[in-house]
Amino acid sequence: MPLPDAMRAVEISQPGGPEVLRTVTRPMPEPGPSDILIRVSWAGVNRPDALQRAGAYAPPPGASDLPGLEAAGTVVAVGAEVTRWQVGDHVCALLPGGGYAEFVAIPADHALPVPAGLTLDQAACLPETFFTVWSNVFMRAGLRAGETLLVHGGSSGIGTTAIQLATAFGARVFTTAGTPEKCRICERLGAERAINYREEDFVEVLKADGGAHVILDMVGGSYIPRNIRALRTEGRLVQIAFLEGPKAELNFAQVMKRRLTITGSTLRPQSDAAKAEIARQLEEKVWPLLGSGDLGPVMDSEFALDDAADAHARMESSAHIGKIVLKVAG
Ligand SMILES: NC(=O)c1ccc[n+]([C@@H]2O[C@H](COP(=O)([O-])OP(=O)(O)OC[C@H]3O[C@@H](n4cnc5c(N)ncnc54)[C@H](OP(=O)(O)O)[C@@H]3O)[C@@H](O)[C@H]2O)c1
Repeated sequence: MPLPDAMRAVEISQPGGPEVLRTVTRPMPEPGPSDILIRVSWAGVNRPDALQRAGAYAPPPGASDLPGLEAAGTVVAVGAEVTRWQVGDHVCALLPGGGYAEFVAIPADHALPVPAGLTLDQAACLPETFFTVWSNVFMRAGLRAGETLLVHGGSSGIGTTAIQLATAFGARVFTTAGTPEKCRICERLGAERAINYREEDFVEVLKADGGAHVILDMVGGSYIPRNIRALRTEGRLVQIAFLEGPKAELNFAQVMKRRLTITGSTLRPQSDAAKAEIARQLEEKVWPLLGSGDLGPVMDSEFALDDAADAHARMESSAHIGKIVLKVAG
């Protein structure tokens, strides 16, 4: 089928609330020699999209200004150097932006096959959280079987992925969430103990268990010194966001005395090679486990691409549990 000259997309018309998202017509993206062009069926919605929309998370140099960090769909063109994919393949892909659109071009090695047993809408929910959790919890913090992981925001897209992945690889998982229902779902996903942070102090719960080996945190602010107290000797704190703010007063003697590691990363500005290496590890170690029933995306809700503003409003209400997706094409 011939490709069109233009495509439908949702852009950020100006920094602001969900209402600034607007459906527009944009030129088709052009794949380079090592890229593939994907006709997007579904695009995942992530909290960083809302931060970008609000003007707090600029796309890295060279990336599309359109929001959308992940998508699933069909390969419709391949660059001259691409051998891995063929036109017609179903893929899901990590994107530096541009997912809220009918077509997106990306480096071929940032795409992964749609795992057996998963549908395209489920596959669209995988890349951003699986790349983030794998690279931070396993590659960076080195979580091992038998160790204890504390995941904050357990009901988030990131949290539901972290609970399942860590459980699948033999770790014990503690998590925090803001309602009893969210806590129940986190425990159903594999968390040994979900802590309703409005009613209980996660530091006391973790200390009573000997402390966490690894903490994955997206809250920051007042959680930073509390995370330090909740870690055991040789523990590792991985910071992936600062929903409560990036600054805190900290007694660094604790870091020295208990030989702690404080680290963190953001995925989007990393090099193409770094993202390709994460993709390679995921395909080897994690993709065979997907679709088995024990590991897969937790789906919250689906919206039409034109209703991206409603999807953002739901995400920012924090009423959701798991992932929100946009239907781009049938
Ligand atoms: N570093 C990276 O590469 C990277 C990549 C992807 C995402 N992230 C970050 O990871 C976080 C989770 O992303 P996501 O897409 O999974 O988002 P999400 O589903 O919207 O999750 C955010 C969750 O955080 C909890 N939360 C705790 N304190 C909060 C606060 N002060 N304000 C708002 N929510 C708060 C909420 O659950 P409760 O109702 O239980 O409080 C909410 O469900 C985001 O901060 C995102 O920016 C980082």
